[in-house]
Amino acid sequence: MATLADPEQDFSRLPDLPADVFTAPLKKPDHVGDDWLEPRQTRYDSEDDAIWNDLFARQMDVLPGRAATAFMHGTEKLDLGRGGVPEFGQLSEDLGKLTGWSVVPVPMLIPDHVFFWHLANRRFPAGNFIRTRETFDYIQEPDVFHDVFGHVPMLTDPVYADYMQEYGRAGWKAMRYNRLKALGSLYWYTVEFGLIQEAPGDLRAYGAGILSGPTEVVYAIEAQSPNRIMLNVDRVMRTDYVISDLQPTYFVIDSFEDLYRQTVERDFDKLYRSLGAGFTYANTAVIDVDYVVNEGTLEYTLRGGRGSGAKPV
Ligand SMILES: [Fe+2]
Repeated sequence: MATLADPEQDFSRLPDLPADVFTAPLKKPDHVGDDWLEPRQTRYDSEDDAIWNDLFARQMDVLPGRAATAFMHGTEKLDLGRGGVPEFGQLSEDLGKLTGWSVVPVPMLIPDHVFFWHLANRRFPAGNFIRTRETFDYIQEPDVFHDVFGHVPMLTDPVYADYMQEYGRAGWKAMRYNRLKALGSLYWYTVEFGLIQEAPGDLRAYGAGILSGPTEVVYAIEAQSPNRIMLNVDRVMRTDYVISDLQPTYFVIDSFEDLYRQTVERDFDKLYRSLGAGFTYANTAVIDVDYVVNEGTLEYTLRGGRGSGAKPV
């Protein structure tokens, strides 16, 4: 059966990137190799640790009852509230015992093919730097708080851990078809902004983009504005997304098993061949094949979103 990933692909070393694959031309800093890994994690000072502690406390005020149960358990299993920026070695040891994943430091956003390769080897690349007091509320590039607090707790869930590895393997297939944008949409609407229905009427967030900030957690779960639609992989991969504002639409899963099954069982060769280079659906669209959990008013988006002063209602 054709699957999400190419079973023949060898990920034991970084595969060569074919010349006809189009990826973002990121400039590699001189001090990192082809794997883009930092030689060691940054040594954080007491102010950095204080920023982590304040960010952690702020999230813990809003997450109970809104974050996925697996996420909350993950923060406890990894003891992320022990104080200060977690040490990646210790984190990897703890995570390794649970699901075989590790956390590795990278200087910045890294190229897709390198990111996919690390995921395929159950390594999660995490930004080394931490935000400052001036950028406490909003940062453009993911920092260690977004990457470690937002993403790593979910990697303690065995099924989710397998999904992330499959996603990395799938990346190499998507690249061959030059359909990275479509696969990026799947990442966006699951890993970064996914919701899970844990019981009828009980929606929770599992996406790191939601869980690492105080505003979107409340908006994603409780606001009237956004659409909430059951995840359909084919539909999501045709849907545009907004990267610097609250989402007009969230996609909901029933379980992590369902997410894993939807991605592993779909014949992605056929899917990639049927996808255009751009997106078919706007990020506000509700279409006739959707199983809608609730259709939003889109009030926040229609008033102009971030920068307009609109309230995230
Ligand atoms: Fe992220």
